Amino acid sequence: MSLTDMFLLVRPRRQLQNKLTMAPTGTTLFLIILVHIWFCTLLFISNTCKATRPTPKFPAILVFGDSTVDTGNNNYLKTLFKGNHYPYGQDFPGHVTTGRFSNGKLVPDFLASMLNIKETVPPFLDPSLSDTNLVTGVSFASGGSGFDDITGSVGGIIPFSKQVEYFKRYIVRVQGIVGEKEAKKLISSAVVVISAGTNDFGFNFYDIPTRRLEFNISGYQDFLQNKLHIFIEELYELGCRRMAIAGLPPIGCLPIQITVKVESPHDRRCIEEENLDALVYNKKLASLLPKIQSLLPRSKIVYADVYMPLIDMINNPLNFGFLETKRGCCGTGLVETGPFCNSLTAVCDNVLEYLFWDSIHPSQAAYLYISKYLEKKSIPELLDYDNQSQPLVTLFDQTG
Ligand SMILES: *[C@@H]1O[C@H](CO)[C@@H](O)[C@H](O)[C@H]1NC(C)=O
Ligand SMILES: *[C@@H]1O[C@H](CO)[C@@H](O)[C@H](O)[C@H]1NC(C)=O
Repeated sequence: MSLTDMFLLVRPRRQLQNKLTMAPTGTTLFLIILVHIWFCTLLFISNTCKATRPTPKFPAILVFGDSTVDTGNNNYLKTLFKGNHYPYGQDFPGHVTTGRFSNGKLVPDFLASMLNIKETVPPFLDPSLSDTNLVTGVSFASGGSGFDDITGSVGGIIPFSKQVEYFKRYIVRVQGIVGEKEAKKLISSAVVVISAGTNDFGFNFYDIPTRRLEFNISGYQDFLQNKLHIFIEELYELGCRRMAIAGLPPIGCLPIQITVKVESPHDRRCIEEENLDALVYNKKLASLLPKIQSLLPRSKIVYADVYMPLIDMINNPLNFGFLETKRGCCGTGLVETGPFCNSLTAVCDNVLEYLFWDSIHPSQAAYLYISKYLEKKSIPELLDYDNQSQPLVTLFDQTG
């Protein structure tokens, strides 16, 4: 990474361009030197850390779900719902678009990094995956999907049933690399992250009421959680033991929901009813997961709360450096997402002031805070598993 890259990371792009085209005044030079010193110190620390880098608590991370955790699988599909074009990825290392639906990294990337597994989680469909990248985990997630297989079904995305099929192929490939016995150990000690549900309510209930003809909200919540239950059991049968399941975000605060539901554009506020529904769903989920865990011997299945950190950011934006929480950074921020947030769309000047990147997806800054919250609240619960069973075996300890 070059010095300019580091510099870009810490300053919003627009401001930077202004800065760089200016003659280097004393202040600018000073800033550049300061960043240089900071960067060198950082390099030094990270090199020192590498020598004593703690053994990862989990050898791998496996991810299932929707666009909140799709690190690029949709790039390889015939679907319109893609994030592999600028400005998506403008703040990702190297400023590359990867298919992630944000300006930078997603929660699975940050978690993998916090857990010392790796810096980013690649999509399973990437044909150029190295063996190391494969055995340390991938994402099977697909933007637009949901627990309900009709969600996104017309959009050509990967439904959950298909994500399980890809996982089976993954297992065969890992067995080919490390052998059957090691593969089994690897899968059982990997951390599994599942994040979906928002599209089910958005596509099938609130905005396009397909499922509302069959279910009331409570019935649809139960229907989805029953699907989730079956999905968890399938992963368990395939060898997964440690899973973190994300609840719903405050759906009524997504900029797109506000746009669809609020009557006056001058009075943009969260749709309380949808937030209440999400809270009820989360409460049901938090009480369902321990029941599922008790039915699956030696499993650890924890609830990952994303509602609380998000509503905290929405209610107290200044604590997080945000000035705008009701519209995305891309375009007007009211409707644009996927193909409508593209290289012709203007972006906000300072993305660090925005909770949302587009009208549906949080910005990298928001994802980082959610990740830190989960690191504190959910990861320790997953690790409690250590006490109850055999010591953790990690692949790399075994093979040197
Ligand atoms: C939802 O539907 C079920 C039956 O399908 C019914 O028992 C329940 O009372 C309904 N709940 C609400 C809030 O209408
Ligand atoms: C598991 O072990 C850790 C450290 O050895 C301890 O702090 C924690 O309380 C234990 N958890 C349970 C559930 O026993």
